[in-house]
Amino acid sequence: MATQESTTKAAALRGLIESKSTEFIMEAHNGLSARIVEEAGFKGIWASGLAMSAQHGVRDNNELSWTQVVDSLEFMTDATSIPILLDGDTGYGDFNSMRRLVRKLEQRGVGGVCIEDKLFPKTNSFIQGERQPLANIDEFAGKIKAGKDSQADPDFCIVARVEALIAGWGQDEAIKRAEAYHAAGADAILIHSKRSHPDEILAFAEEWANRLPLLIVPTKYYSTPTAVFRRAKIDVVIWANHMMRSCIAAMQQTARDIHENRTLVNIEGRVASVREVFRLQGAEELLEAERRYTKAGAPQTKAVVLAATRGDDFASLTDDCPKVMLPVAGKPLLARLVDSLKTAGINEINVVTGYKSESVDVQGVVLVDNPDFASSGELTSLTCAMDSIADDTLILYGDLLFRDYVLSDLLECPDDLTVVVDSASAADAGAADLAYCSVADDRGLYRQDVSLERVSGEALWQEREPNGRWVGMIRVQKAGREWLMAALAELKKRPDYDKLGIPDLLNYLVEQGRSIKVVYIHGNWLDVNSLDDLQRAREFSVR
Ligand code: SPV
Ligand code: MG
Repeated sequence: MATQESTTKAAALRGLIESKSTEFIMEAHNGLSARIVEEAGFKGIWASGLAMSAQHGVRDNNELSWTQVVDSLEFMTDATSIPILLDGDTGYGDFNSMRRLVRKLEQRGVGGVCIEDKLFPKTNSFIQGERQPLANIDEFAGKIKAGKDSQADPDFCIVARVEALIAGWGQDEAIKRAEAYHAAGADAILIHSKRSHPDEILAFAEEWANRLPLLIVPTKYYSTPTAVFRRAKIDVVIWANHMMRSCIAAMQQTARDIHENRTLVNIEGRVASVREVFRLQGAEELLEAERRYTKAGAPQTKAVVLAATRGDDFASLTDDCPKVMLPVAGKPLLARLVDSLKTAGINEINVVTGYKSESVDVQGVVLVDNPDFASSGELTSLTCAMDSIADDTLILYGDLLFRDYVLSDLLECPDDLTVVVDSASAADAGAADLAYCSVADDRGLYRQDVSLERVSGEALWQEREPNGRWVGMIRVQKAGREWLMAALAELKKRPDYDKLGIPDLLNYLVEQGRSIKVVYIHGNWLDVNSLDDLQRAREFSVR
């Protein structure tokens, strides 16, 4: 036989049934249990009627419709690569039902079906088995033949299950039936017994003498050593319901414990972790696919927001909160900034707080405290969030308001280090953070290739006019992160480190020969440093 990877599931099942040694297949009743069975190392699955109906909370009396069974099987075949033998009860009707069943099972990738010679609706063999009527032999043989004639894949297996021993009709009847089913084209015989000793099974096996492969279900004679089955040349042993029974026992224990003790502490260590649930569901594969197929799956931009200062020019307004919590048209400045970030798809936002940090109350951010905010500068705050600076991180001041396109433009840049410069603010002589760039803004349609040369409060640097104002925003990507980390480590050695701000960091990076690219904008933003700014922010926000 070819290897399982290169063959159909039907061929794999046939390989198991016809293998020279005794093989073992395990019950599963849904996608999850099927995956667990495969992971345990089994080479095949018994899709048990008892277990599938039990997991839906109904009886093993064909209360689950056959199409519901087929739908469950689809989850099981999707979740696994090993073949499934369906416990198909009586075939869910007459020869015609059987024909349709076989076609549907093949379409869903099920390797084979076992049908039992009882009457529809069936009853589980362990419930008053002796009072269960058996099917007419010829009719049942016709059903097998109809099934065999319907299969498209020659490897699809039809196993005929003989219930004569269960119904108390004895060995001769069992052999007679097995022979009739053999003649009708069955691929294997399943002989079932409800005794606690395997005597009648072994006697059957001896007389049957492997005319067709033989399958057994040792649920009741479970204490029989497996070597006995091997010696009897049993082809497939079916562990028929142990996945379902083990989860019932575990669920009962968990439910009782949590109900009685009203706490989860006793059980957390005894149940599978949520991470394990994700693993079994294949969550990792979906993440990989997202990375491959969607923008959302691309590495996510994160943000570090610096919001540690009180703000000097707000009089008593900032007695109890930092300026980023001042309301602008009813909403704190910081909440507005966070909204803008989230609108741009930036969801991992770390906010470095300091002054009155306990008053910073904004949803959907992680707060990082700078306990030395009073005596330190922006670089110390940035260092507090060092662990949050990933391969693609936006670093920005918490008092910014801007139109959405500002962020969109910045997020489109591929460069390692990028800053936003407002060329419309260049004439504002009083402005801090004046930006001197390699090329002036041409206000053209296309993005220019511009590098930052200096950020400074000096209205004239090297006898030059500034090209605009740095909008307290930086994006670091890839190598930019390494440059930033190295620069911070170096600057930390300086005695004036506590006084240094982000512009000093930018200038240091330029001095080190690092290329900082510029995205020009023309207005459409503001930062809030005074009461006047606060008024402007209100107007900006309601516009
Ligand atoms: C099943 O697993 O549903 C079976 C085997 O048919 S038994 O329950 O033993 O009849
Ligand atoms: Mg069954």
